[in-house]
Amino acid sequence: KYLLLFFLSVFPLCLLNGWPTGFQSLPAINPSTFSSTHRNVTILLWYWPFNRPFSLRGDVCWDLYRIPGCRLVDQRSLFPSADVVVFHNRELVIGHQKLPFDLPRPQGQRWAWMSLEAPLYNGNLRNYGHIFNMTITYRRDADITVPYGELLPKVTEEHLQEDSPLNKTSLVCWVVSNYRSQHKRSQVYKQLNATVPVKVYGRWTKRPLPSKALLPTISRCYFYLAFENSVGKDYITEKLWRNAYLSGAVPVVLGPPLSDYKAVAPPNSLIHVDEFASVKDLGKYLQQLAMDKKRYNEYFTWKHQWKVKLYTDWRERLCKICSQYNSLPQQKVYSDLEAWVSHFIPNT
Ligand SMILES: *[C@@H]1O[C@H](CO)[C@@H](O)[C@H](O)[C@H]1NC(C)=O
Ligand SMILES: *[C@@H]1O[C@H](CO)[C@@H](O)[C@H](O)[C@H]1NC(C)=O
Ligand SMILES: *[C@@H]1O[C@H](CO)[C@@H](O)[C@H](O)[C@H]1NC(C)=O
Ligand SMILES: *[C@@H]1O[C@H](CO)[C@@H](O)[C@H](O)[C@H]1NC(C)=O
Repeated sequence: KYLLLFFLSVFPLCLLNGWPTGFQSLPAINPSTFSSTHRNVTILLWYWPFNRPFSLRGDVCWDLYRIPGCRLVDQRSLFPSADVVVFHNRELVIGHQKLPFDLPRPQGQRWAWMSLEAPLYNGNLRNYGHIFNMTITYRRDADITVPYGELLPKVTEEHLQEDSPLNKTSLVCWVVSNYRSQHKRSQVYKQLNATVPVKVYGRWTKRPLPSKALLPTISRCYFYLAFENSVGKDYITEKLWRNAYLSGAVPVVLGPPLSDYKAVAPPNSLIHVDEFASVKDLGKYLQQLAMDKKRYNEYFTWKHQWKVKLYTDWRERLCKICSQYNSLPQQKVYSDLEAWVSHFIPNT
């Protein structure tokens, strides 16, 4: 019955929009039957991101994420038997870890470059050509795509509390700690604030929000400026997935082009700054939309079909390598990692 409901609710949507790229279902395979027919894939993490280790005890990928056949390890002594060795970019560029060029690289072993940063914050990668065989990052064209969040289809129509009072006290809100006047987002903010009132929170205005207060505060705004600190292909962070989608404010986004958002987010779930001829037009649109309850509420209809999934655990990202291991290309080398990472985006 639920399966039927699932197809009835999801399939027409997929015809309209195509499957969301991040969509994946959990394999319902028993790990013991699995391991008798498949060998384990060994993923070695060379250095924990930000030097913060997590427990790898037990069969982590199965226990936490129901991904079978994955041996996730961080002991460097296992290098000779590792199928994939993962290097997190930050500790490479600041020198906290070095690539093990001194060790003989087993045949077929892949070295993976991993980062969740925007290109601007990855440092100089010019010396990293002809080393890595795969990339692990939020980009859709990475070998392993690890977004900050994604939408998964709801299996049953959960009831939405549509009639809850809107209780909104601000039109537009922005939360910013790291304010730089040269950021594109700062310029757009200034122009927008000249048209409509924008309430600003965060360290910049000395109105910091403790993390517990973040979502409740944003929920009292009609619109939330999900402005990325840097514009990069597919660089869409928790500002959209968490701060906006989970709070109940409509996101106004600034970041990669609208087409990147459309590939991962349902239509009519966000407002892109580039959709307007001027920031002033954007401001007027927001003002009108807030006064039109019916049209405003249409920005939440996607919540009937989709639920937000956030990715916050490095182990989940690493386990994902195993679920895609068999579809990786046999042979691949990033001959110019710097060029791949800084993927040129035409200025719109
Ligand atoms: C695969 O790894 C799991 C978890 O570490 C282990 O329990 C299992 O025995 C391994 N299977 C094989 C075939 O090596
Ligand atoms: C509406 O928001 C105010 C804070 O601005 C809060 O005190 C109040 O409890 C909220 N009311 C409802 C019904 O959520
Ligand atoms: C935003 O607009 C308000 C009201 O016009 C003004 O008082 C405030 O100085 C503006 N903020 C900035 C940073 O320009
Ligand atoms: C990985 O990259 C290295 C270095 O360029 C290369 O020698 C090796 O053949 C590549 N392996 C795979 C599986 O692509």
